[in-house]
Amino acid sequence: MPDADPPATHDEFGLVKFHIIAGITWLFVGMLAGTLMGYRLSGAAAAEFIGDIAELSYGRVRMLHTHAVVFGWLSNGFLAFSYYAIPKLTGRRLWMRGLARGNAVFFQVAVLVGAIGLLTGHAEGVEYAEAPWWADVVFALSFVGAVLVNVGTILTSGVKNMYVTLWYLILGFVFTTLNFVMANTIVAHVAPGAAGASIEGLWIHNAVGLWVTPMGVAIIYYLLPVILKRPIASHKLSLLGFWTLAFFYPLGGSHHFFYSPTPWWLQVLAVPLTFTLIFVVYSVVYNFFATMKGRWKEIAKDIPLRWLTFGLINYIITCTQGPFHALLSVQQVIHFTDWVVAHAHLALFGVFSWWVYAFIYWIWPKLTGRAYSRAFAEWHFWLTLVSFWVLYYVADTVAGLMQGMFWLTTLPLQDSIEAALPFWATRAISGVLILAGTICFVISLARKGKPVIDDDTKQPQAQPEVAHVE
Ligand code: HEM
Ligand code: HEM
Repeated sequence: MPDADPPATHDEFGLVKFHIIAGITWLFVGMLAGTLMGYRLSGAAAAEFIGDIAELSYGRVRMLHTHAVVFGWLSNGFLAFSYYAIPKLTGRRLWMRGLARGNAVFFQVAVLVGAIGLLTGHAEGVEYAEAPWWADVVFALSFVGAVLVNVGTILTSGVKNMYVTLWYLILGFVFTTLNFVMANTIVAHVAPGAAGASIEGLWIHNAVGLWVTPMGVAIIYYLLPVILKRPIASHKLSLLGFWTLAFFYPLGGSHHFFYSPTPWWLQVLAVPLTFTLIFVVYSVVYNFFATMKGRWKEIAKDIPLRWLTFGLINYIITCTQGPFHALLSVQQVIHFTDWVVAHAHLALFGVFSWWVYAFIYWIWPKLTGRAYSRAFAEWHFWLTLVSFWVLYYVADTVAGLMQGMFWLTTLPLQDSIEAALPFWATRAISGVLILAGTICFVISLARKGKPVIDDDTKQPQAQPEVAHVE
């Protein structure tokens, strides 16, 4: 039954805040794991002490890293956003609010159970879904709980003319439920090994393309018009981007397994299908640029807008790089190298994490009634931007190119490792600097700034003020 009460987003604020704090906690876990791996790969003597501790062995920490950032950090960030945006866009309070509150804690338990499973050596061979089956069951239950509340609110609200953010949120929730179940049943237990690889490619691809991407794009389409107080340039284009994402995205999953034992025709077909993603990406990019027209200077003073914009720059780079490295000739060089690791970080950290940062900075004063510390927010931004771009992304990309070139020769593998060591060292340093930036982020939010009076919190509305206007 749709809730007949007037929309009261205040009610959801506790939930939003909880998911933000939980997400940042998982971000620290993920970053610590990433930095630890970075030091181990750099050959730093200081990291040797963990050599004999099974729980901290490289493979386990790597799985913990991706598990913590994808399921713990980004997913909590997306839930914080959806619990705020859905009541605003439907004009209804959350459906099954009690479930939403209980599930917020249960969701953390689910991520924790997975993390324990990974660290204690119970992983299964499904990349990015390595947690054991018993952890999968707990996670699936909590995810379905979140889907019920979010999608249930939209469906029972009777909202007509759904704003594009809602389309993306529904897509993300529904596809991901199916995708998660598929990966953890078919890939893990029915068709493992090479036979399951094509389906595994589908899982990885859809986890980034039909969970992370729609949730992130939903944030862009919500925040950009609200911050700029002007409608997005083209609502029609945003919907075209939506339908091309829903239609084309699932088709290109085998591009993760080029030169593998999967059928060759499937690999060749993946190349043109990968290129269709350009429509998806550039519909968002065009809309961003056209909506920002004449307003670029505002990124100097507006922190959320700045994170959105720099995230978009990374989106352009990573999604232009994507079709390029899906060419079979380029694949011969970069496959299995650090180039791919750099691409993965530019996308998941440089784009989607930064859009979640934008949302957190934007919503925090509404949640707490206090401004965040501007000085620490600036430190967070500059430390993250410079250390990630220069010491991580560029360094790893160059290392990847070098590795690929070495592997095309008859030189021993050891030579490529020695060539990569200086770049792995800068990556390890970037980890510490990015962590320092993240500490500034937390201090910025935690410091009690000036009281903020925000109309948005006083008068919840059914739509973001101007977002849906054509
Ligand atoms: C302190 C910051 C971080 C550091 C130092 C770091 C470091 C690393 C390292 C060393 C690896 C393993 C590379 C390898 O095995 O060759 C890795 C993998 C990965 N990290 Fe991070 N990471 C950081 C933050 C993040 C964040 C915030 C995300 C996502 C939101 C992320 C997503 C990933 C993914 C998806 C992989 C797997 C890449 C692949 O298999 O191609 N990392 N990271
Ligand atoms: C049009 C845009 C994009 C295209 C065409 C593309 C294409 C690709 C290809 C071909 C690979 C495989 C590289 C290899 O293993 O040799 C890859 C890897 C990867 N991509 Fe993208 N990408 C795009 C955007 C994104 C986005 C937006 C994300 C995150 C939301 C992302 C996350 C990843 C990750 C995590 C990997 C590593 C997968 C693994 O470890 O097996 N990519 N991408």
